[in-house]
Amino acid sequence: MTFLELAKRRFSTRKYLEQDVEEEKIQQVLEAVRVAPSAHNYQPYSFVVVRDAELREKIAATYQYSWLKKAPVILVALGDHSRSWRRSDGKDHCDIDTAIAIDHLTLQAAELGLGTCWICMFNSMECHKVLDLPGHMEAIALIPLGYPAKEVNVDRHDEKRRPLSELTRWQ
Ligand SMILES: Cc1cc2nc3c(=O)[nH]c(=O)nc-3n(C[C@H](O)[C@H](O)[C@H](O)COP(=O)(O)O)c2cc1C
Repeated sequence: MTFLELAKRRFSTRKYLEQDVEEEKIQQVLEAVRVAPSAHNYQPYSFVVVRDAELREKIAATYQYSWLKKAPVILVALGDHSRSWRRSDGKDHCDIDTAIAIDHLTLQAAELGLGTCWICMFNSMECHKVLDLPGHMEAIALIPLGYPAKEVNVDRHDEKRRPLSELTRWQ
């Protein structure tokens, strides 16, 4: 599979099979996170792997849609603002670094036949409380992980993405 084929296979999976994810596959997904680049190589992120049913329920409750409860694993992407690189103008690169790590995660998962979905529309403060996080840590995204119950449509980008002519400017 080429990189572009893999990128097209990743899709937002919102329906999961009732099937556990093998621990080796979770480890491989996390290894992809580990090798991600970050500003100054500060790696200001960590991931909580939530498999425990009770905790999963509490984390899923911070998101308004119930499909999340069906995912066998939820990864909580945490950003550590005390560790992230700040440019001289003050810009904090925590979100950028964490997003790259999450992108590695979702693509590695897709290669293993696993589905994921970025979730940012959750109650981050509530999640912060559930995980009892310190003040400098932020719950940036929830990433469910599991076997998709639907087949991916690899041609969807033809319609669902803006044309390159709109996205690029050659000079
Ligand atoms: C930063 C970010 C936040 C997102 N938040 C949510 C979310 O809260 N809930 C959701 O169902 N999808 C969420 N998505 C998924 C997008 O809706 C999805 O990536 C987009 O529609 C393209 O579809 P695809 O991922 O299947 O290619 C998010 C995606 C990104 C990148």
